[in-house]
Amino acid sequence: MNELLEVENVSVRYGALEAVRNVSLSLAAGETLGLVGESGCGKSSLGRAVLALEPAASGRVLFEGSCVHELRGASLKQFRCEAQMVFQDPFGSLNPRMSVGAAIEEVLYVHGLGKTKAVRRERAAELFENVGLNPDWLRRYPHEFSGGQRQRIGIARALAVEPKLLVADEPVSALDVSVQADIVRLLKKLQHERGLAYLFVGHDLAVVRDMSDRIAVMFNGEIVETGSADQVCDGPQHPYTQKLLSAVPDIDTALAL
Ligand SMILES: Nc1ncnc2c1ncn2[C@@H]1O[C@H](COP(=O)(O)OP(=O)(O)O)[C@@H](O)[C@H]1O
Ligand SMILES: [Mg+2]
Repeated sequence: MNELLEVENVSVRYGALEAVRNVSLSLAAGETLGLVGESGCGKSSLGRAVLALEPAASGRVLFEGSCVHELRGASLKQFRCEAQMVFQDPFGSLNPRMSVGAAIEEVLYVHGLGKTKAVRRERAAELFENVGLNPDWLRRYPHEFSGGQRQRIGIARALAVEPKLLVADEPVSALDVSVQADIVRLLKKLQHERGLAYLFVGHDLAVVRDMSDRIAVMFNGEIVETGSADQVCDGPQHPYTQKLLSAVPDIDTALAL
């Protein structure tokens, strides 16, 4: 078994609503699986179930062979480092009264990474450089950054704990198109450097295609089609995928940005 992540017949329920229905997927180390589908189809619910932030009503999620919903204690703590979330709006998860440097140092402290304050400060500076931000800006507060810069901070904070998997939940959906391309480029660079695996969630098929090795198309809680990015985009089998593709005005223009 060399899959990093295996999702087997997972369902997520909120009371009577079955938001995710019997979903199965797999992701190898260093690979990107795009998850695409319109708003409300269950992408975030599935992403949260993968990270054991949401219980699975049925089925199981295996990370390196262990069922994530059964992890407790030290093994759960380790999983919280190995699998991280990048949000659409990192601002919502940043404390407005804490400098961004202090926020990253806090993550390092909480996870026992970096023995002294000086080491943590140094590590935060390295992380900032890794994501293309000036380490001098670590003293600044979240409101002093643009949307794209905040997304870089969110990525730096996720990387602080040295994850193997990032669930990126619409990480570029709130950004201007040119900034989207910068963040996509950054995520690809980081994947190349670190061998990260991504579950890359989006509703814009052009962006998801640009990022992904394989794509899973989600509709109404279910995966209706999975294949290589080219297969899914050039020869869509399911009517819903065909509809999604026809909503992409000009894929070549979008990719050239
Ligand atoms: N915490 C929650 N409680 C109740 N319903 C929820 C919750 N989160 C999501 N939902 C519902 O589940 C469905 C799927 O939502 P979501 O997973 O956020 O989809 P997506 O990320 O694709 O937009 C929607 O109908 C949404 O209203
Ligand atoms: Mg969502």
